[in-house]
Amino acid sequence: MSKKRVLIVYYSFSGQTQLLIQRLVCGLEQSNHEVVTERLQPVDQLPFPFTSWAMMAKVMVYSFFRWRVPVNQVNDIVYEKWDLVIIAGPTWSYSPSGPVLAFLDKYGRDLCEGTTIVPFISCRSYWRTHYWGLKFILNKLGGKVTRPIVYLHCSSEPWRTIGLFLQLMGKLPRLESSWFRRRYPRYGHSKEQCADALEQGKMMVNRLMSKGDMGK
Ligand SMILES: Cc1cc2nc3c(=O)[nH]c(=O)nc-3n(C[C@H](O)[C@H](O)[C@H](O)COP(=O)(O)O)c2cc1C
Repeated sequence: MSKKRVLIVYYSFSGQTQLLIQRLVCGLEQSNHEVVTERLQPVDQLPFPFTSWAMMAKVMVYSFFRWRVPVNQVNDIVYEKWDLVIIAGPTWSYSPSGPVLAFLDKYGRDLCEGTTIVPFISCRSYWRTHYWGLKFILNKLGGKVTRPIVYLHCSSEPWRTIGLFLQLMGKLPRLESSWFRRRYPRYGHSKEQCADALEQGKMMVNRLMSKGDMGK
C-alpha cells in the first residue's frame, strides 16, 4: 500500500489523550506512513491539577457552553495536503475541549475541506454528544468525518467519577495499597487500551481505504 500522510492535531490536559496518541503514532509509523503531530497549547495554560474546586467547577460549567480556549499559533501544516487528519482530545462537559474548538474556529476551514477526518476521544464515560458536536462542526467545515475512535477510563463506577475529580484536584491518594486505590488502581486508560491504540494505528489506514473513505 502506498505511503499516506497523516496529521494528528490533539489537545491533552491531564495526559491521557497524549498517552494514547503516542501509541497510535507508533502503529501508524510501523505501517510505514508519514505522521506529523501537533499538540495544541493554550495561550494561557490551565493549571493541572486545578488550584481550587471553584476553578474546576468554572471550567466544567464554561465547557458545557462550548467555551473556546485560545491556542497558540500552529505552524503551516494546516495548509498542507493530508490523506488523513486525526482530531484528538478529551471530552469536557459533554463537548469537545475548549482548545480543540478554538483551533477549529481558526484553522478548521483550511484543514478540513475535502479531507478525511477521524475524531479521537479520550473520556471518563460520556462521549456521544462530544462526537455529535464535533462531527457537526467538521461537516460544516467540509470534512469527511469517519466513525470515531473512543477510549473510556478503565475503572468501574462510582470510583471512576470520584477518581477523576480527585485526580483533577491533585488529591488522588498516592499509596497503591490505600483503601481507595485498591478500588481505583489508576486514573484514565489502561495498558491494554494503549496496546489497542497501537493496533488501531497499524490498521486504520487500511481499514479506511478498504471502505473507500480516504483521499480527496
Ligand atoms: C473540565 C473537564 C470536564 C470533563 N467532562 C467530562 C464529561 O463530560 N464526560 C466524560 O466522560 N469525561 C469528562 N472529563 C474527563 C476527561 O474527558 C478525561 O479525564 C480524559 O481522559 C482526559 O483526557 P486528557 O488527559 O487528554 O485531557 C472532563 C474533564 C475535565 C478536565
